[in-house]
Amino acid sequence: MSTPPTPAAAPDRLEIAGLKVEVEGKQILCGIDLALPPGEVHALMGPNGSGKSTLANTIMGHPKYQVTGGSIDWRGESLLGLTPDQRARQGIFLSLQYPTAIPGVSLVNFLRAALRGLGREMPAREFLGTVKQELRTLKMDQAFLSRYINDNFSGGEKKRMEILQLAVLQPKLAILDETDSGLDVDALRTVAEGVNRVRSEDMGVLIITHYQRILDYVTPDRVHVMAAGRVIESGGAELVARIEREGYDSMLRAAGLETEPAEEEAVAAGAPGA
Ligand SMILES: Nc1ncnc2c1ncn2[C@@H]1O[C@H](COP(=O)(O)OP(=O)(O)OP(=O)(O)O)[C@@H](O)[C@H]1O
Ligand SMILES: [Mg+2]
Repeated sequence: MSTPPTPAAAPDRLEIAGLKVEVEGKQILCGIDLALPPGEVHALMGPNGSGKSTLANTIMGHPKYQVTGGSIDWRGESLLGLTPDQRARQGIFLSLQYPTAIPGVSLVNFLRAALRGLGREMPAREFLGTVKQELRTLKMDQAFLSRYINDNFSGGEKKRMEILQLAVLQPKLAILDETDSGLDVDALRTVAEGVNRVRSEDMGVLIITHYQRILDYVTPDRVHVMAAGRVIESGGAELVARIEREGYDSMLRAAGLETEPAEEEAVAAGAPGA
């Protein structure tokens, strides 16, 4: 039986439109529009609780997040209805804000299984060589090879582990949920270099972050600001500096969102400085 010719692959484009999501009956995302063209790096910022992780988890297909409206298309086809592992096989990767430990599963076995799951098994020698090289690049001890995934890893080590996975698995779309949080200055630079190394015309990246620092190293093509389950502002890299300078207040007001009443009361009451 001859295999039919493979149709030309659609571009690796993520297109989110009018996305509404509920978690345990509570509406968290209220109509998100966001497009990530192939090979672009976009930053997603916004106050705590605005829904950034919810969006990331929903793209990956976490069962806790219920899509009640809108669409998520990847390569021109809907991701809704696909399981997280099917989405991973389509080249989507999520680096978790809080990576979980998997006691009993070594880094080597984990990465091999992950590659196998993606249908990209490598000969043992070549595989080990790749992982060792990545560990060196990330300035991580080779002892990590045999340690259990994230088991008793420090915060920064867990984040570097996420970049190691990214480098080995080479997804087409990488979503990094606060991969820069809790990193020391050197580790931040190492992780940013890691992202720059794997970032290519071939891989889109969505960087969720609270800080300008990582974006000093990895310059985003676009920046989006989320608040109250919506994207309230999008712009170029200059938006990052504006946020650093002014905070979110003016954007929240422009979007018709109240800023923290407690804060305003404190200001009105002339809260004494420390
Ligand atoms: N099971 C749940 N029940 C009710 N509310 C929830 C549930 N899970 C998440 N939320 C709420 O959804 C909102 C969005 O959370 P999310 O983690 O997406 O925010 P975030 O933008 O990633 O914040 P951060 O910057 O602090 O990581 C929060 O207000 C959170 O309390
Ligand atoms: Mg979050």
